[in-house]
Amino acid sequence: MGFYTKHILPRFIDLAMRNRETARLRAAWVPQAYGDVLEIGLGSGLNLPFYSSQVRRVYGLDPSTELLQIARKRALDVPLEVEFLPQSAEDPAPLADRSVDTVVMTWTLCSIADASKALQQIIRVLKPDGRLIFLEHGRAPDAGVAAWQDRLTPAWKRIGGGCHLNRKIDELIEAAGFRIGELRTCYLSGPRPMTYTYQGVAQRGVALVAARTRAVP
Ligand SMILES: C[S@@+](CC[C@H](N)C(=O)[O-])C[C@H]1O[C@@H](n2cnc3c(N)ncnc32)[C@H](O)[C@@H]1O
Repeated sequence: MGFYTKHILPRFIDLAMRNRETARLRAAWVPQAYGDVLEIGLGSGLNLPFYSSQVRRVYGLDPSTELLQIARKRALDVPLEVEFLPQSAEDPAPLADRSVDTVVMTWTLCSIADASKALQQIIRVLKPDGRLIFLEHGRAPDAGVAAWQDRLTPAWKRIGGGCHLNRKIDELIEAAGFRIGELRTCYLSGPRPMTYTYQGVAQRGVALVAARTRAVP
């Protein structure tokens, strides 16, 4: 691992993810988590202050030991039980199948090399009535912006810890077997290729598909 990835990028991520707009969105979505929570891409732990008393325990998964070090300090200031899982979301977490009530993922799916593999792991650990709360940036609906996202992504990935600007977040989530029950999309402030945002809640879709199939005469 190079000097940039180990020493500069984690501090840059902690700073860049800490602003009024991200805080507003965290405050809108993260308190909806309950029970046993798996946070994918815990990063520097910026969501930790937004969990409500409905949360029993947070499993904070992230492959960056440097970011987890910052998160560990932040966890000391919140009344939460936090267990840190230093690993990639693509690899099976040490959690039983269908054991987690909520998965929270904020500004992370863009950076996971194999997003579909990670989503398969998320669906594995989520209880049948569990929920995936996501807050992600991704592909814009405007052709001009999307073209810039395609152009910029190869270079952006190199400086941004593998971050893709052009992923169609809702399609990725649904392709993994989720049903998105609530979805809001918008540009945040800042350059449009970097700020098109998908916010929402998804549940395992298999039961719904089965129910729909049964309902057809
Ligand atoms: C832009 S940061 C967002 C951090 C945090 N979720 C937040 O909202 O502030 C992207 C995060 O994705 C994490 N990440 C990158 N690859 C990952 C992977 N394969 N599995 C899980 N997390 C990953 C990074 O270490 C980093 O913490």
